[in-house]
Amino acid sequence: MTLTPTTPAALVDRTAAYIRQKFLHEGSGHDWEHIRRVWQVARGLAQHTPGADLLITELGALLHDVADWKFHGGDEEAGPRAARQWLQSQQAPEEVILRVEAIIREISFKGLGVATPMSSVEGELVQDADRLDAIGAIGVARAFAYGGHKDRPLHDPTVSPVEHATFESYKQNTAPTINHFYEKLLHLRERLNTPAARRVAEERHAFMEQFVAQFLREWEGQDLAQS
Ligand code: ADP
Ligand code: NI
Repeated sequence: MTLTPTTPAALVDRTAAYIRQKFLHEGSGHDWEHIRRVWQVARGLAQHTPGADLLITELGALLHDVADWKFHGGDEEAGPRAARQWLQSQQAPEEVILRVEAIIREISFKGLGVATPMSSVEGELVQDADRLDAIGAIGVARAFAYGGHKDRPLHDPTVSPVEHATFESYKQNTAPTINHFYEKLLHLRERLNTPAARRVAEERHAFMEQFVAQFLREWEGQDLAQS
């Protein structure tokens, strides 16, 4: 069978089908439904962003976690490389491949105080969509799914989650999952690129703050005293 050069719509469809089958049974919170939500949200943001290229946004969203460094021994080029391989197999133009690679290379959170600017507007939209999916109720669920996947305890009451929140502990997965809220998730609201995403983040952030406060109260039995 010879491959004919694909139309943008066919390229998006094929990429979605490829990623869907690859991530369908993923248990760390980076499953197909995560990618699908990021894809939908990024597409929605693109529709309200003049100048945003829909094809680049959609491919960036679909491929952003294709080979995450967290799961590839810290190799930050694993993602861009896997995306290139896929897109070349689909005969995507080199210009498209370069733009998608840049999104994957730049998207990840790299610690408090480390800026993660995106070099394209499409990248800003995909980064916002990915970060919105890391906060709120789904963010809570994903954090604990990921922590369980890495055999992390929920919480260690002898260690303050606030003080123990460093990017080193984040990268090495050495901290209990509740720390992740202080080292990353509660800071994502301030690090969004678009006003539309910031609006959505308000409610999700408030929910997460309430969750963490209640979690720590229950852990210490502080709610029992009131009954
Ligand atoms: P990023 O590109 O910013 O790393 P991803 O989309 O790959 O974002 O996924 C990050 C998700 O993984 C978040 O939902 C987050 O809750 C979870 N995660 C990553 N590291 C940890 C950790 N150390 N503890 C708990 N959850 C984590
Ligand atoms: Ni993601």
